[in-house]
Amino acid sequence: MSEKKTIAVIGATGAQGGGLVRAILRDAGGDYRARAITHNPNSEKAQQLASLGVEVAAADVDDENSLRRAFDGAYGAYCVTFFWAHFSPEKELAEAAAMARAAKAAGVRHVIWSTLEDTRKWVPLSDNRMPTLNGKYKVPHFDAKGESDRFFLESGVPATLLLTSFYWDNFIYFGMGPRKGPDGHLGITLPMGDKKLAGIAAEDIGGCAYGVFQRGGEYAGKMVGIAGEHLTGAQMAASLGKALGQEVRYHDVPPEVYRALGFPGAEDLGNMFQFKRDFNDHHCGARSLAVSRALNPELQTFDVWLARNKSRIPLG
Ligand SMILES: NC(=O)c1ccc[n+]([C@@H]2O[C@H](COP(=O)([O-])OP(=O)(O)OC[C@H]3O[C@@H](n4cnc5c(N)ncnc54)[C@H](OP(=O)(O)O)[C@@H]3O)[C@@H](O)[C@H]2O)c1
Repeated sequence: MSEKKTIAVIGATGAQGGGLVRAILRDAGGDYRARAITHNPNSEKAQQLASLGVEVAAADVDDENSLRRAFDGAYGAYCVTFFWAHFSPEKELAEAAAMARAAKAAGVRHVIWSTLEDTRKWVPLSDNRMPTLNGKYKVPHFDAKGESDRFFLESGVPATLLLTSFYWDNFIYFGMGPRKGPDGHLGITLPMGDKKLAGIAAEDIGGCAYGVFQRGGEYAGKMVGIAGEHLTGAQMAASLGKALGQEVRYHDVPPEVYRALGFPGAEDLGNMFQFKRDFNDHHCGARSLAVSRALNPELQTFDVWLARNKSRIPLG
């Protein structure tokens, strides 16, 4: 049997990277093996991966030398940054640049960079439809990722830009789940009007990434957008209601109301939803459902994801 190619996975104990590690493990007879990168190899999640036979390597995304060591000998590398761990676009830019340099130095043959749009290409800082944040961003957690694309494209390593989508898991973990309003009904609040939100089960991002690695050079130097479905707020509320067995209403609020909700990141997310609403043809058009399903045949629809996860959705 020929030697398997190693894919080094940043964030392997998290949502995106974890999905990729599990996709590789499911394909036990395939050509690839995962190397799980974690900054804490002793954690329960890292130990769990080790017990499944996954190689675990220690590295911190803020330590370039550790990244280079963790990428050493790998065929592929999955690169993702963790904006919500620090809320700093500058840190995200520095981490992405370090990942791209480390991949080059380690001789990696194919990198996938988990990215989002630099929204300033659509909404320049002079466009006052939404406030400029942190002095030079419209959607900080998007813009820094999009601005970082060039580090990978210019690194000399064949790179694929994986344009991800809103996780439906945000209804479980990110405080976006249905909440009881003053009307006594459960509701979800999104400033999306009647426009469609490209969404995906976070777990399925890794499966799509695996599909990209399996296709070798086909996606090198290209961007590929992924989503499980494009759904309006009203459609998501109806599906949530059906799954939960009680009515869930969709509350469409203006982006300025969402930005003022006061939780950490509310302005960033308010601008993000407004970008998705105002440039909806691009937002959905850049994330082909057919391409996503071809890359990952196990791709879930929202209803399938709900059937599997409804008991985990907290009802506020
Ligand atoms: N929420 C959404 O809808 C959405 C949609 C698209 C894109 N995104 C983007 O997804 C990114 C986060 O990815 P995710 O959801 O997969 O993350 P996640 O589930 O929060 O996982 C983060 C993992 O990264 C590891 N980690 C944290 N800090 C690290 C460091 N300094 N060095 C090395 N590893 C570190 C942690 O593992 P260890 O403790 O084991 O090291 C953790 O398990 C964000 O940048 C966000 O903007 C989110």
